[in-house]
Amino acid sequence: MRTQLEEIRSKAKEELLKCQSLNELNDLRVYYLGKKGALTQVLRGMGQLSAEERPIIGQLANEIRDEINTILNQQGAKLKKAEQEEKLLGETIDVTLPGKSFAQGSKHPITLVLEEAKQIFIGLGFEIAEGPDIETDYYNFEALNLPKNHPARDMQDSFYITSEVLLRTHTSPVQVRTMEKMAPKTPVKIICPGKVYRRDDDATHSPMFHQIEGLVIDKGIKMSDLKGVLLAFAQQMFGPKQKVRLRPSFFPFTEPSAEVDISCVMCEGEGCRVCSQTGWLEILGSGMVHPNVLRYGGYNPEEVTGFAFGMGVERIAMLKYGINDLRLMYENDLRFLRQF
Ligand code: DAH
Repeated sequence: MRTQLEEIRSKAKEELLKCQSLNELNDLRVYYLGKKGALTQVLRGMGQLSAEERPIIGQLANEIRDEINTILNQQGAKLKKAEQEEKLLGETIDVTLPGKSFAQGSKHPITLVLEEAKQIFIGLGFEIAEGPDIETDYYNFEALNLPKNHPARDMQDSFYITSEVLLRTHTSPVQVRTMEKMAPKTPVKIICPGKVYRRDDDATHSPMFHQIEGLVIDKGIKMSDLKGVLLAFAQQMFGPKQKVRLRPSFFPFTEPSAEVDISCVMCEGEGCRVCSQTGWLEILGSGMVHPNVLRYGGYNPEEVTGFAFGMGVERIAMLKYGINDLRLMYENDLRFLRQF
């Protein structure tokens, strides 16, 4: 039995020291020290030994088990370290390799114009207001002095969800929504940038487009205040030489109403194809807020007056960047988008 044990000792030592991987090492542990392992097998025969021999053999077996365990632990630590090092080596990063470049996006021309317009109006003391894209007939028409069956509704014949709910056809409903929140406080001085929807689709009209609404209410607001604000806007947006002119017009929610032209950004007023030789470009509708609209919003038209305007953002982007077809804005063609 002693020889059997010595054989186990020397064989185990040899194999353990030769062992190359943690898996293999574990197999050896089971083989020598496991419940059915070599050492246990030998010790099963202890019963046949004499009383004197038993403790001696027992001690020897313990010694061998301890020895094997020690080697197992040492080898285990060594192999683990080696495996880790190998893994790390495989993961080294070559910092001299050229980097991967990401395609970088750019801001859409509409975003650019919206951001710039907001900055200009904020600079003039305006605040930004918002309203829902899905609007009620009341705010979109009724409260803007456009009762049911008013012929001016035809121009904005639109996308209805129910007979009382539609996609807003302009940002003007935010006027009354804002007034309701603020009344009777003054001044009201807001712009509302946002999406609007109409049943239109050609080179200069899209079924979804953007507007910026403006509304100012206070004691003694005059048409000249409207002109001053729009002139400041035009000069900051298109350059200090800009002029603006007001032409009489009609909107149900303003009285008097005016279309506003800026001097042509292409020819600076000389006359060219873009401005049809007139030297002027129409950019928005505006006017003095109609007394009925003030009343709908909760203000007393005997006490306060106001002006309002609504401009098309796409139109401004087209003029600013010389874009000749509105549809380019929505085609997501990179050759177009990369130019901004
Ligand atoms: N809402 C009008 C439209 O979409 C534009 C407009 C005209 C807005 C006159 C106004 C305004 O605030 O006073 O055609």
